[in-house]
Amino acid sequence: MHPMDGLMLEQVPLAGLAAAVGTPLWVLSAGTLRRRLAALRGALDAALPGMVAIHYAMKANDHLAVLRIMAAGGAGADVVSGGELARAQAGGINPADIVFSGVGKTRAEMGQALADGVGMINVESAEELTRLSAVAVATGRRARIALRVNPDVDAATHAKITTGLAENKFGIAWADAAGLYAHAAGLAGLEPVGLAVHIGSQILSLAPYRAAYARVAGLIGDLRAAGQVVRHLDCGGGLGIGYDGAAELPAAAFAGALRAELGGLGLRLSVEPGRWLVGPAGLLLASVIQPKRGVGRRFVVLDAAMNDLLRPALYDAWHGIVPVSAVDALAPVSAADVVGPVCESGDIFARARALPELAEGALVALLDGGAYGAVMSSGYNARPAAAQVLVDGSRWAVIRRRPPVQSLWAGDICPPWL
Ligand code: LLP
Repeated sequence: MHPMDGLMLEQVPLAGLAAAVGTPLWVLSAGTLRRRLAALRGALDAALPGMVAIHYAMKANDHLAVLRIMAAGGAGADVVSGGELARAQAGGINPADIVFSGVGKTRAEMGQALADGVGMINVESAEELTRLSAVAVATGRRARIALRVNPDVDAATHAKITTGLAENKFGIAWADAAGLYAHAAGLAGLEPVGLAVHIGSQILSLAPYRAAYARVAGLIGDLRAAGQVVRHLDCGGGLGIGYDGAAELPAAAFAGALRAELGGLGLRLSVEPGRWLVGPAGLLLASVIQPKRGVGRRFVVLDAAMNDLLRPALYDAWHGIVPVSAVDALAPVSAADVVGPVCESGDIFARARALPELAEGALVALLDGGAYGAVMSSGYNARPAAAQVLVDGSRWAVIRRRPPVQSLWAGDICPPWL
């Protein structure tokens, strides 16, 4: 290690990875993944000893190496498709530790979940109850279910990642929840064990959580008073991280809110965070293709683009962008628009960002890319998905190769008359 190695992840200089593997390149820290899972585990155990299971929302990053680290740290998984259900098990997660969520599960996915023996299926509508009951009866299995209720609470986050408002497609309308719980208890093949609630993503304050959990606690009281058995509450995910240097939602504060609102109800609880566990563990390494002078504007054109990291284009999301080289980092800064080469005006990572002059070939790291980064990438503009590297102390390994460009059309079938 040398002071001029520039930015490192754990003990590995990023410039060395770029030279060895090429850019754009996702780089993920195993140590950060383990530390964050352990920190959440510790905070939950301190507040509510032995009462809260962690089901990692694998949609945030479903690489098998990530799943293995989560499984080794004692986490189960929250899955939202038959694909994720299979993938979670390929990553070493026990089906009994898997919760199947999502607003639209096909009959085939329901059958797969029951055959695999998932721990719980979160049901989001009366129609879904009917279909799941039919699948359970037809296959001679019993489905442990939670009803996902919509508490109509504003999570105060981006509209595209808000889920707990009455206008959102998610969850069972508040007014219908008690009636449907009783209805579910009478349906063949179903065993209602409790409720689930998830109000949105990238939530940075406790107030919406407390409001939602307080409402749910009231509903649980009503259900129990009506003679229903409610043993479990899936408390959802959504814990936010500090993309722009703001404080993340502290695990201890979140755990404290769980205890304050739900600790006295004799429930088994589970949480399903994705972003908080993996977001800060990853970055996207990119090279400057060229600087470009516009009319009164400075552009930095990277070899990474919106097909790699979609969040800025889709949600106007802010990601830190830092030069990797120590020499670059010390040069005087000016405002620059950081863009990708994709033919869309929306292919912008940052506007008017203070950055030093960056020449062709200079490396930058786009930070906090461990969640909803690689998983949301596409082959748009015939750009193969970036390779991925896992760093662990002083070790590193390529955990996904960049596919050859031919793979992009390998599945195309030209009809015989062409
Ligand atoms: N549980 C349910 C039912 C969910 O819908 C989600 C996320 C989670 C848990 C995990 O949420 P997290 O802890 O990661 O916030 N692509 C967007 C985020 C979409 C989140 C969708 N649901 C982004 O890049 O910001």
